[in-house]
This record gives sequence, structure tokens and C-alpha cells, in this order.
Amino acid sequence: MAAQRGTPSVLSLPGAGDGLRRRLSDGLAAVEELIARRVDHEDPFIAQASSHLTLAGGKRFRPLLTLLAAELGDGAGEQVVAAAAGVELTHLASLYHDDVMDEADVRRGAPSANALYDNSTAILVGDLLFGTASDIVADLGPEAVKIQAQTFVRLCSGQIRDDRPCPPGEDPVTYYLRVLEDKTGVLIATAARYGAMFAGCDAATVETMREYGERLGMAFQLADDLIDIASEADETGKTPGTDLREGKRTLPVIHVLASEDPADARLQELLTGDLGPDAALEEALGLLRVHPAMEHAREHAVAVASRAQEVLAPLPESDAKDALHALATGVVTRVG
Ligand code: IPE
Ligand code: IPE
Ligand code: MG
Ligand code: MG
Ligand code: MG
Repeated sequence: MAAQRGTPSVLSLPGAGDGLRRRLSDGLAAVEELIARRVDHEDPFIAQASSHLTLAGGKRFRPLLTLLAAELGDGAGEQVVAAAAGVELTHLASLYHDDVMDEADVRRGAPSANALYDNSTAILVGDLLFGTASDIVADLGPEAVKIQAQTFVRLCSGQIRDDRPCPPGEDPVTYYLRVLEDKTGVLIATAARYGAMFAGCDAATVETMREYGERLGMAFQLADDLIDIASEADETGKTPGTDLREGKRTLPVIHVLASEDPADARLQELLTGDLGPDAALEEALGLLRVHPAMEHAREHAVAVASRAQEVLAPLPESDAKDALHALATGVVTRVG
């Protein structure tokens, strides 16, 4: 499989046979080649800024999923490869914007675009990459364009709501899960759906892949939110505690804030106070890492991943089905 910097075990697909592994690896190489060609630009600065994060690393989780879903049909033809590149570029565009929103300085083990250049450049390069993704998807026909457009509307709605507090009177867990479905679930659902669609699968299989992808995406983001607390920078290529510093109400934080145990008072004070100072952030991270709320949230992630696995039940047995099953376990056991 194409070695990306920091590629964690989630993409190593334990148990996948050599044939499947080779086809996925060839498919990812084709996706990589297409992305490199399309992020290039005649202006050297634009070329550098838009290839910055691609060259820095990344797991290529979404294109891998498109390629795996395509294994349920005719495999990775030219359209599947284009769809996978379109999804990864949409994701990439959202990362340029996300780091502006989250004031993140590090991404994929490199300076984020906003840190390396500035916010305006990061926003405009994100827009440019989204335009490039749309250009690639346009060659796949009107249905693909419609899906891409609806996906992006949901992704942006999720990101907007992620940046805002849960409205009074709404249940914070329901609000949080809805944000996850939109900001992350839908693009991962589209990655899986495109793979089945452009590999000639029947409508029922395409729908199975969409639903699997949406649940997988939810599990992926639930795990990402735990990783922000539990993992180290060298595992993730990101700064631990970024969500806490931004005051994000992720699942473990919601659990802690709802606790009536007096032993949680200090952590609650920290989580509702200013986590700008390093000492306060370190203290909050230390207390959260050992708090039962982490295990509680982890159980939720595992339950969502097993619901993704249940969706696969109607598919005939195959190497690809086994790999999709393993992928759902991998996303919630990963550390980066
Ligand atoms: C990061 O996605 C943004 C989320 C939706 C959590 P990834 O964890 O897939 O980031 P890369 O592509 O590997 O850098
Ligand atoms: C980002 O969620 C989701 C999207 C980019 C749409 P996060 O803000 O948690 O992603 P990371 O942790 O910065 O990668
Ligand atoms: Mg972020
Ligand atoms: Mg964010
Ligand atoms: Mg995160």
C-alpha cells in the first residue's frame, strides 16, 4: 500500500489477501498521480500552497474506501479513480478551512497552511482545491455532481454548527452527533457510495455502501475526538488538545460537564475556563485521559462502528467485505 507519512494501522487492513492489497495499492497510486497532476499550477506560489498538505502526508482513508467499495463491483476503473481523487480533494479543501476555524498550527506533521502562509491564503487555496475537486467530479456526470454538491452543503452545515454552541433547550449529545454526521459522516458516505456506483454495482449495493459509509464516518469522527485528547503529536501530526482549547463540546467533555460527582469539579472548572495557558491545557488533558468519560465515549464509538458492520450483512461473502468489516474496527482502535 502507498506509504503515507504517519500512515496508521487503520489502513493496513489486517487479513486482506495479497491480490486485494495489490489492487488497492495500485489504485491509490493512480489516485495520487491524478491529485498531484491536478493540484499543480502555472503560478509557482499557488502550486506550492495547494500541494503543501498533500505532500505533508495524510492517511488517504477516503480514497481507500472508494477503492474498497469498488471491489464489490468491477474494481478501480478510470471513473472510480477520478471519484476517489475528487473525494480526497474535497476533504483536503475542508482541512485548509478547518485549520483556520480551529486556529490549528500543525497538520499532517507540518505547519498548517494558515500558520505557514496566512488565513486568507488558506481559505482561498481551500476554495481552489474545492473547485478542482468539482472539476474532476463534473467529468463523472450530473448525478455525481449533485451528490458532491449535496455532500458539500452538509459538510459546511456541520462545520458551521461545530463552531457554535449547542442552542439552549437542545440535548448536547444529540446536537453533537448531528454535527458529526454532517461534518464528517456525509463525505465518507459519499466516498463509499461513489466507489460502488462507478464500479457498476446495483442500486441496493450502492445504498448499502452509502449507509455503511455514513456510520463509518461517524465512528471515524468519534475516534478523532478521542484522539485529540488521548494521542501524542507524533502519532497524529496534530496538536493534542486543540478541541479543548477551542472549547469544543465533544462527547467525553459533554459527559464530564454533566457529572454531578464533586470529584469532577476541578476538571469542569478547567473545561469551562480559559485553556489558552499551556499549564491549564496540560492539567485538563491529564485529568481527562484517565477519566471514565473517555471509556464511555470509546464504547459509543465502538457501538457505531459495529452498526456500520451490521449494514454489510446482505453483501455476499468476499475479501472486500471482510476488509470493509476490518476497516470499521480499525477506525475506532486507531491512535492517529
Ligand atoms: C481529519 O481527517 C479530519 C476529520 C474528519 C477528522 P483525517 O484523519 O482523514 O486526516 P488525514 O487526511 O489523514 O490527514
Ligand atoms: C474536522 O473535524 C472535520 C472536517 C474537516 C470537515 P476536526 O476539526 O476534528 O478535524 P481535525 O482534528 O482538525 O483533523
Ligand atoms: Mg480541526
Ligand atoms: Mg474542526
Ligand atoms: Mg479532530
